[in-house]
Amino acid sequence: MSEATLPSREELAGCVIEILHRGKSRNPDVFLIEVDRQRFVLKDFSPRGTFVRNILGPWLVDREVRAYKALSEHPFVPRYLGRLDKMAFALEYRPGERMSRSLKGRVSSDFLSTLRQAIDDMHRLGVVHLDLRHRSNVLVGEDGQPVLIDFASAICGDPFGIFGKLVLRNLARLDQRAFEKWRVRLS
Ligand SMILES: Nc1ncnc2c1ncn2[C@@H]1O[C@H](COP(=O)(O)OP(=O)(O)OP(=O)(O)O)[C@@H](O)[C@H]1O
Ligand SMILES: [Mg+2]
Repeated sequence: MSEATLPSREELAGCVIEILHRGKSRNPDVFLIEVDRQRFVLKDFSPRGTFVRNILGPWLVDREVRAYKALSEHPFVPRYLGRLDKMAFALEYRPGERMSRSLKGRVSSDFLSTLRQAIDDMHRLGVVHLDLRHRSNVLVGEDGQPVLIDFASAICGDPFGIFGKLVLRNLARLDQRAFEKWRVRLS
């Protein structure tokens, strides 16, 4: 799926398969969309109020898109597929189960080491997530592998620049602590 094949805003209503998540006053709605038998996810601030639609939403979309683009080669992050307009962007659909204690004993023995590696690789690419403690932001994909989503709070930068070395490396500890939380719950 490329940017060119995204539906227009007018066509969108006819393409919605499911609402994956209904946002509150400042969050996007997350839709599962199908176009030409291809499914993808759309994060969309357009149903919100004027301030969020025009100012906060587009700013958050810019930030999140920047993180997804920086992670375009990361195997455990959905591919960024393009911008519908200033209020919405599309992602590869990677269905999975949210993190929870009930996954204990049901994930493969190497799940946690793969998750740890996925977080380290994300940091190496210059992105700190900052919201990995939230159970909805780490999924166990259908293939049993981790899926990292929701980069709305993420901070990006050149991992080899001064900002990367001083700021990102310190913030990365928050992601590592979130990993510890999941390690304890799943072990
Ligand atoms: N690429 C994706 N593939 C499959 N499901 C997804 C994808 N992106 C989002 N979802 C689903 O939609 C939910 C909400 O997405 P996301 O966390 O990005 O939005 P959010 O507005 O931050 O929601 P929340 O406030 O619950 O964190 C996810 O928990 C997940 O169930
Ligand atoms: Mg989320």
